[in-house]
Amino acid sequence: MPAIRNSIRFLLNDREVEVTDISATATLLDYLRLDRRLRGSKEGCAEGDCGACTVLVGRLRGDELVYESVTACIRFVGSLDGCHVVTVEHLADADGALHPVQQAMVAEHGSQCGFCTPGIVMSLYGLWMRQPDPSTVEIETALQGNLCRCTGYAPIVRAGKAISTYGALGQDRLVAERQRIIERLKSFRDGARVELGEGQDRIVIPASLDDFADFYVGEPAATIVAGSTDVGLWVTKFMRDIGPLVFIGGLEELRRIEENEDAITLGAGVSYTDAAPALVRRFPQLADLWNRIGGEQVRNMGTVGGNIANGSPIGDTPPPLIALGAKIVLRHGAERRKLSLEDFFLAYGKQDRRPGEFVESITIPALPEGEQFAVYKITKRRDEDISAVCGAFRVAVGDDGFVQTARIAFGGMAATPKRAKTVEAALVGKPWTAASIEAALPAFAEDFQPITDMRASAEYRLLVAQNLLRRFHLETTGAAERLERGAA
Ligand SMILES: Cc1cc2nc3c(=O)[nH]c(=O)nc-3n(C[C@H](O)[C@H](O)[C@H](O)COP(=O)(O)OP(=O)(O)OC[C@H]3O[C@@H](n4cnc5c(N)ncnc54)[C@H](O)[C@@H]3O)c2cc1C
Ligand code: FES
Ligand code: FES
Repeated sequence: MPAIRNSIRFLLNDREVEVTDISATATLLDYLRLDRRLRGSKEGCAEGDCGACTVLVGRLRGDELVYESVTACIRFVGSLDGCHVVTVEHLADADGALHPVQQAMVAEHGSQCGFCTPGIVMSLYGLWMRQPDPSTVEIETALQGNLCRCTGYAPIVRAGKAISTYGALGQDRLVAERQRIIERLKSFRDGARVELGEGQDRIVIPASLDDFADFYVGEPAATIVAGSTDVGLWVTKFMRDIGPLVFIGGLEELRRIEENEDAITLGAGVSYTDAAPALVRRFPQLADLWNRIGGEQVRNMGTVGGNIANGSPIGDTPPPLIALGAKIVLRHGAERRKLSLEDFFLAYGKQDRRPGEFVESITIPALPEGEQFAVYKITKRRDEDISAVCGAFRVAVGDDGFVQTARIAFGGMAATPKRAKTVEAALVGKPWTAASIEAALPAFAEDFQPITDMRASAEYRLLVAQNLLRRFHLETTGAAERLERGAA
């Protein structure tokens, strides 16, 4: 059993903070605005969508310090142990001189109502620290999670491009003082488990992965919090009492990515942002989907393990991972078992996970050479929207032109992420031709009886699923490219 510490310690701008008494579900935004009187960060939606509350959180990754934009409205204070929280108040100098990001926003008229501006400034600041000369696409990506309803984005994008004309990155406080901040954050590391509060308000931050496994076996009713991009809304929107909370976002062992020729293994705590380089290099077909999961703040916080464990029928990672044949490792104390991802989802809201068991890792096997794979996300708006339907397709077509194997999985079509086994069976052994596709389409209605909800009607879902198979066929046979060229 590790030593116990009864406080959460982090850096808030340039101050060290030690919190000993706080509600388990206290959000960073409430803490900043109500407790610390730092009111620059705004509350727009309180559900991680609008970005008005964006702040930067710096965390040590090995010896490196990485700053990421996050939405403070759905981030709990308990998740900040050992981190550096940077709010918009930290940007201007003490004499009031604006930071280059702020100067650029003023000069380019990037602010009108001003309510969304601090969040936009923080997102642009996070990008500028990584990339002082960003492209339009990089700026748009950084702003996917920031909604501005009045100025339009053109002046904001112009401001994003102009930042470096108002100051050099080397003179930025977080850059110039990086080493000193790293030392301060390292001094917080004492290898202790953090325990605070009682009952619903209990906060536990395990000292290590083994410590978490031990704790969770003994207290399976505790709510696991990884990136809190789902859990946060249970509190801010559904007003649920979900304590005690066990925070696993800081466990380095869960943030590991391991690769070999045969597979890539993601620790369950790997965020979308951290997973992207390795995963997209291996599966370029995931690039578009990955970039459309939430906005940048959600991708910085949200984890693949959380998406799977949450078990939502419209989570975006299960369809492609099921099509790719991913397996997960579930851990209960020191015991581990491996399960095909598709078998994890039993029914709506019910997964094959016993009390005290958690998702430890996800292993995705390499795609055998020659196999075709694609995933399509269908939403009402392109960015930062939840899927109405997400379809993933994978086929192996032999030299004779006949389908040898097919794995097709959908989100948004059933109460769980689910394979289209009847469609698969209708394709295997048939020639990979438009006629075979057309013949297989009726099988969708056997696999799926989707519902009508605010995202799409049942009829639309069924039709779009069928059309996605058509599209996949056209793309894999090169016909889609030909059609596009023809249209142009
Ligand atoms: C604005 C916004 C946009 C979003 N857009 C998308 C989107 O486009 N596509 C999409 O799929 N999702 C989207 N989401 C949902 C969410 O971001 C994802 O589901 C995310 O992957 C959840 O991961 P997390 O780490 O934040 O999980 P958390 O919220 O921390 O946890 C989610 C659930 O998983 C459990 N859990 C977490 N880790 C583990 C573990 N290792 N073992 C066992 N249980 C665990 C928690 O107890 C909880 O039940 C969005 C959310 C927001 C707020
Ligand atoms: S208040 Fe809208 S994202 Fe936080
Ligand atoms: S300036 Fe605030 S919504 Fe656009």
